[in-house]
Amino acid sequence: MFHDNMTTHWPNSVRRSKAAPKILVLARFPTNPASSQPRNIVTPTPPPAHQRLLNKSPALRARRRPTTLAALPVAAAAAAAVMVSAEAGIERVLWTEAEVAARVGEVAAELAADLRALPEPAVVVGVATGALLFLADLVRRVDAPLAVDFVRVESYGGGTESSGKPRITADLKVDVAGKHVVVVEDIVDTGNTLSCLIAHLEKKGASSISVCTFLDKPARRKVDIQLVGDGKFYSGFECPDYFVVGYGLDYAELYRNLPYVGVLKPEKYKKDSSN
Ligand code: IMP
Ligand code: MG
Repeated sequence: MFHDNMTTHWPNSVRRSKAAPKILVLARFPTNPASSQPRNIVTPTPPPAHQRLLNKSPALRARRRPTTLAALPVAAAAAAAVMVSAEAGIERVLWTEAEVAARVGEVAAELAADLRALPEPAVVVGVATGALLFLADLVRRVDAPLAVDFVRVESYGGGTESSGKPRITADLKVDVAGKHVVVVEDIVDTGNTLSCLIAHLEKKGASSISVCTFLDKPARRKVDIQLVGDGKFYSGFECPDYFVVGYGLDYAELYRNLPYVGVLKPEKYKKDSSN
C-alpha cells in the first residue's frame, strides 16, 4: 500500500484532535503540467467492508477526513478480521517464546565456553531451513570467533514421516578441512539426517564435529549419532513424540515463523498420513 509517492501527513487539525485516526496517507500524484501545484487525490479506495463499517457508525462518519485523505486504521482492522492466523493449526504450546529464549541463552553460554577454548575459530553449520531461527539466536549469544555456513539436507518431502534417505541438496561454501564444526539442527528425530551430514563433513576433513540441536526426540531414534574427535552434543529441549512446529520447524514449509514450539493439530496432516 505504501509506495514512494505517498507521504504520511499530519495536518494541524488532526494533531489537535483526540479522536484523530493514527495514520493518514496522502497520495501525491504527478504534477498537473497546467498547474504549478501537485494534485492530491485520495487513494486507495476503501474496500467494501471498510466502507460499510464507516457508513454504519455515526461516530466514524463524523471523523471522516476530507475527500483528499483516507484513514487507514479502520481498514487495517477490517483486514485483520479476515486474516487466518498461523496459530490456528496449533493444538498446544510446548515451549513459549520466553522459555525458548531462556534455554537458547543457556545453550549458547555452554557452547561459547567450549568454542573460546579452541585454538582457532569453529565453523557453525546450520541445516536449512529448520535451523534458521535457532542458529540466528544462538550465534548472536556466542561470544567467540566463528564462521557460519549452511547446508540443505532433505528427507521429509511434504509429510510428517522421514523418508530415511536424506540427500544433501545444497553444500557448504566454507572449507571445513582441519576445522572444528558445530552442526546446528532444529530437531534430531530418527538421526538419519544428522548421520548422513556427519559422514559428509568427515569426508570433507573436519577435525572434530559437534552437534547443537534445538530439540531432541530420543524416543524416535533409529541411528546412533557418532560425533567426531572432541565433538560434543548440545541440546535445547528433549521433545516428546509429537509432530511439532514453530521456531523454524515446519509442516509442508508452514509454521516456521511461530516464535514458540507447538504441537500441530493432527487434522492438519491427517490427509497426508492416510495416503
Ligand atoms: P531425522 O532425519 O529423522 O532425524 O529428521 C530430521 C529432520 O526432520 C529435522 O531436521 C526436521 O527438519 C525434520 N523433523 C523431524 N521431526 C520433526 C517434527 O516434529 N516437526 C518438524 N520437523 C521435524
Ligand atoms: Mg532440519
